Amino acid sequence: MPPSLHHPRPSLPSTTGLRYPRTVPAAHPALQRLADDYAAWWIDLLGEHNHVGGIETTRWLLQRSGLGPGRRMLDAGAFVGATARLAAEQTGCIAIATDINPDFLAAGRDLPGGSAVRWVAADNRRLPFRDAAFDSIWALDTEIAYHEFNRVAAPGATLCLCCEAPSDSRGGLDAFIEDWERAGWQLAAHRPLSAEAAHTWRVAEAELVRRRPYFEERYGTRTYLRQLDAVAYLVQAYERGEQGHALFVFRRAR
Ligand SMILES: C[S@@+](CC[C@H](N)C(=O)[O-])C[C@H]1O[C@@H](n2cnc3c(N)ncnc32)[C@H](O)[C@@H]1O
Repeated sequence: MPPSLHHPRPSLPSTTGLRYPRTVPAAHPALQRLADDYAAWWIDLLGEHNHVGGIETTRWLLQRSGLGPGRRMLDAGAFVGATARLAAEQTGCIAIATDINPDFLAAGRDLPGGSAVRWVAADNRRLPFRDAAFDSIWALDTEIAYHEFNRVAAPGATLCLCCEAPSDSRGGLDAFIEDWERAGWQLAAHRPLSAEAAHTWRVAEAELVRRRPYFEERYGTRTYLRQLDAVAYLVQAYERGEQGHALFVFRRAR
């Protein structure tokens, strides 16, 4: 995922009295407040399951994650912790959601299922957990912190990723997988997602253009244009095959 999706946004004043109503179903008030404050296309257009494929890809990973009652799950870079909340509800696991931005975690706590999750503000690159603390580590379209994920994974843990992955045939994908294998992980499942990602960016671009008056009023002209530019860059990069996306489940040796 590009930096435009990763970096926490500075807080912006809420926009009131909009002339152009949303044409998408109303979000939960806690998520709506966040979308108003942050003025970011990825909150407005991707919603609470804020990664390529949305809840469908979360479920695909969940089925392969080995999570169950009492297992400890880390949703790293969780945004509002939609993955952690779903995992806790569906598997009975002990779910911990972290994000670098405490506003996102506070909104997640107020969303349905939020009380079943523990919320901890933290940078993925400096996780405040002991070694081998987790049975399953999740990083969906967020910063992948190779050393910290290795450190906090217990023997036999799974690592569930939705992330940028080379989509060409020049060995980049193999190199990505081999980096994890060298650290003692075995690939358990892989699903290419480049076509879905390209579609997601195209839809986002089309929505930003189609509803320009709404988004321009909501974000301000300069921010609107910057965001449109970022999405257009993504569309181009994915259409040219310069960037790709995939789901991975790795399992660590016991
Ligand atoms: C595109 S969202 C994905 C959120 C979530 N994983 C999901 O699938 O719904 C990226 C999130 O990663 C968080 N993030 C980016 N860099 C981070 C870092 N170094 N440590 C922790 N969180 C980070 C952002 O604040 C944002 O909430």
